[in-house]
Amino acid sequence: RNNDNPLPTKENRRLEITWTVATAIILLFVGVASYGVLANENVTYQPSEELENEDPVVVHAEAYQWGWEMSYPEAGNFSTGTEIVVPKDRPVVFQVTSRDVIHGFHVPEMALKTDAFPGQVNTIKTVPYEEGTYQGYCSEYCGVAHSQMYFTVEVVS
Ligand code: CUA
Repeated sequence: RNNDNPLPTKENRRLEITWTVATAIILLFVGVASYGVLANENVTYQPSEELENEDPVVVHAEAYQWGWEMSYPEAGNFSTGTEIVVPKDRPVVFQVTSRDVIHGFHVPEMALKTDAFPGQVNTIKTVPYEEGTYQGYCSEYCGVAHSQMYFTVEVVS
């Protein structure tokens, strides 16, 4: 036999295992990194896509232990605390961030969900098409009063 066709020696097997493990670790890192990128691009569009180009209402939602501060830059940074009122049939953009630890912005009935990270703004967009008051809450465990972090989104015409 020549050296181009090595026998499955103990040493070869050890090398093979080493490379398999190294490849697995590299793939794991790539996976984790790309998940991080994808997770921050969760822009939600809801039905009325023809309204997409209309001037959106921008709402800032800042989470803190343990509450929310919502504000409308459009209305001169008018702060609304935990009750936000948005118009029906007009695009609404939520810019979600945190003042301290990681929280979660979640309005199940409006299919809105994104993480609230300190030092980062996550944007989600929707077009509310049904009037009503929708309950929102914090979806990431953030300490003793996590379950008190309620807010409401009221959709009016
Ligand atoms: Cu904020 Cu849980």
